[in-house]
Amino acid sequence: MHLLFIFLYLSHLSFMTAVTNNTAVTNITVPGCPTKCGNLTIPYPFGIGRNSGCSLGPWFDITCNTSFNPPKAFLPADLFSMTGISNFHQVEVMDISDEHVRVKSTIATKCYNQTGGVIQTTTSGLVVENSYFTISSERNKVFAIGCDDYAFVSPVFGIEGKNFSSGCVSVCSNVKDVPVGTCSGMGCCATSLPKGLTTYVAGVYTLKSHTEVWSFDKCGYTFLGEQSAFTFQGASDLDDPDFATRTAETVPMVLNWVIGSGTCNDYRNTSDYYCQENSVCVDFEGGNGGYRCSCKDGYQGNPYLFPGCYGQ
Ligand SMILES: *[C@@H]1O[C@H](CO)[C@@H](O)[C@H](O)[C@H]1NC(C)=O
Ligand SMILES: *[C@@H]1O[C@H](CO)[C@@H](O)[C@H](O)[C@H]1NC(C)=O
Ligand SMILES: *[C@@H]1O[C@H](CO)[C@@H](O)[C@H](O)[C@H]1NC(C)=O
Ligand SMILES: *[C@@H]1O[C@H](CO)[C@@H](O)[C@H](O)[C@H]1NC(C)=O
Ligand SMILES: *[C@@H]1O[C@H](CO)[C@@H](O)[C@H](O)[C@H]1NC(C)=O
Ligand SMILES: *[C@@H]1O[C@H](CO)[C@@H](O)[C@H](O)[C@H]1NC(C)=O
Ligand SMILES: *[C@@H]1O[C@H](CO)[C@@H](O)[C@H](O)[C@H]1NC(C)=O
Repeated sequence: MHLLFIFLYLSHLSFMTAVTNNTAVTNITVPGCPTKCGNLTIPYPFGIGRNSGCSLGPWFDITCNTSFNPPKAFLPADLFSMTGISNFHQVEVMDISDEHVRVKSTIATKCYNQTGGVIQTTTSGLVVENSYFTISSERNKVFAIGCDDYAFVSPVFGIEGKNFSSGCVSVCSNVKDVPVGTCSGMGCCATSLPKGLTTYVAGVYTLKSHTEVWSFDKCGYTFLGEQSAFTFQGASDLDDPDFATRTAETVPMVLNWVIGSGTCNDYRNTSDYYCQENSVCVDFEGGNGGYRCSCKDGYQGNPYLFPGCYGQ
């Protein structure tokens, strides 16, 4: 009885080891390329280094800046930029998954003195100068925080042919009216973005320069961020001098990434078709075209890397 149990136990153990071993040799990156920047895993088609041969193309080149501790990862500066405190700066990567890149958002801020003078102002924006990335309309919302504020979001002028503008208004007269956990227009509002957006500039504007709410609300904020990552904390957010810094650290903006701008059928049988063995090609519907590869059911691995996905 005991011997049988030990035998079963041992065979189970060796089975487990085989599985672990199989997983361990899965290629995440091109062989010989670094897999991590600090704690962040960089899976192919992304790769570390400009023109290092580690990525599928220049759009997927991640710059790992080791002068930060821990190191920080950035999207390529010539293809992406962001407006923040003063001018355009690099876009910091917080996470890369099969479908998305989460980047650090910037928070447009305007703070007022008691008589309505502007004492601090920043804007928020992003420019993606390639077709492989779009701002996710499914994951992100435009938020405005404040009791005398509205958000206004539009494309960066002259870059995108698309005509859109979006925004929402957030007002309240009494701090006791401000609910926690909802963005319904009292202290916080949220609204959707169109599909396929590659640029935006967002500002926060005011109706009465905060003069009537200044005792409990001195600043207004606007940002684009992942809806599920943000919970409005009510009056304590209105009163928090670290609101912008804390929110930028905890609420990323979600970008979709795809390959190309056509459909799977446009690329099949061409040198721009990257889906390897045991994978399927999936058209992307949520942006401006492009495709992704995905392992077939029952297979795993990196569908973009030779030799492809493997079975159990
Ligand atoms: C995986 O297992 C094989 C056979 O058991 C062994 O030769 C190989 O070194 C292992 N590879 C790793 C990465 O552990
Ligand atoms: C990893 O990549 C190498 C070189 O391309 C290839 O020979 C090997 O089979 C790959 N391993 C797996 C598990 O995909
Ligand atoms: C890394 O970051 C430092 C500090 O911001 C900056 O001075 C330097 O130019 C960056 N290096 C690269 C390669 O971008
Ligand atoms: C990696 O993550 C761990 C746990 O979250 C953290 O303690 C550590 O400081 C991180 N290291 C780097 C280099 O980011
Ligand atoms: C508020 O700011 C305005 C414009 O900068 C300035 O003229 C005014 O004196 C300030 N008021 C107070 C109370 O500091
Ligand atoms: C965008 O909208 C403005 C005002 O509604 C209009 O004058 C302009 O022609 C539009 N541009 C495009 C490219 O549709
Ligand atoms: C791709 O090539 C295969 C075999 O050469 C062919 O059967 C298939 O119709 C081609 N597909 C497209 C979309 O051209």
